[in-house]
Amino acid sequence: MTEPGERAQIGLVLGVLGGTGAQGRGLARRFAMAGATVLLGSRDASRAAVVAAGIADTQGRVRGVTNAEAAGADVVFIAVPYEGHAALLTELSEALAGRIVVDCVNPLGFDKRGAFALDVPEGSAAEQAAALLPRSRVCAAFNHIGAQRLLVGHDDIVTDVLVVGDDLVAKDTVIALACAIPGLRGLDGGSLRLARHVEALTAVLIAVNKRYKTHAGMRLTDVDETRRTVDNSVDLIHPSMGDWS
Ligand SMILES: NC(=O)c1ccc[n+]([C@@H]2O[C@H](COP(=O)([O-])OP(=O)(O)OC[C@H]3O[C@@H](n4cnc5c(N)ncnc54)[C@H](OP(=O)(O)O)[C@@H]3O)[C@@H](O)[C@H]2O)c1
Repeated sequence: MTEPGERAQIGLVLGVLGGTGAQGRGLARRFAMAGATVLLGSRDASRAAVVAAGIADTQGRVRGVTNAEAAGADVVFIAVPYEGHAALLTELSEALAGRIVVDCVNPLGFDKRGAFALDVPEGSAAEQAAALLPRSRVCAAFNHIGAQRLLVGHDDIVTDVLVVGDDLVAKDTVIALACAIPGLRGLDGGSLRLARHVEALTAVLIAVNKRYKTHAGMRLTDVDETRRTVDNSVDLIHPSMGDWS
């Protein structure tokens, strides 16, 4: 188990659905820099291979594959536009059974007044994922980190990652993964039903970014990580999957 403040090593294989986009590339880069093997998924494996080879600083740890192959990783990040979310998860529900699934999707609309949260029938993208993937362990996280911050720089990204979910071991795993990236602090943001607030808050961050011409992150004050009990069974080292090397 990793103690609060200690940086974990990552032995798990991570997958990214929609990995060819800015957010997927950014997550792949940061996790590869932290030592993880990343399966970068796409609807087109050849596009994924080209994109994976072009991501800086990964030391060859990112491999371009189909979304279906990426769905076989230990922990799978969803980084597709909300418009494609339900259809892709429906298609991959079998492959994602038993996986920890981290939904990064923010259902947002844009008009001349800026970004705004869309109404999602299930309440949030993450709850939609949980409904479509009843055998997966769904969390929402990394909603508030802009791709530009993930794609550029090294240990200069100082921000919190709010993780919400109802599966406590899955949530602790995602918190530990966030903490494995230098500068990031994963925090337990509560149950999965709060994902709607996490996702919608991104519209506010986009407004801040526009006004201040920046890529703002979130940082909560006066949170002492040692005051939260962490599940002892969290293990970022031992992959449950086959050998992807
Ligand atoms: N960009 C950010 O800064 C940021 C920050 C936080 C969260 N997010 C969230 O992360 C997600 C991805 O953001 P992004 O900016 O990387 O998006 P994006 O570039 O528009 O899309 C990511 C990838 O998704 C795939 N895709 C596109 N339409 C699809 C569809 N209908 N069905 C299945 N796959 C599709 C494409 O890959 P292939 O064509 O190769 O399959 C594309 O490269 C979004 O939901 C966003 O809300 C983004």
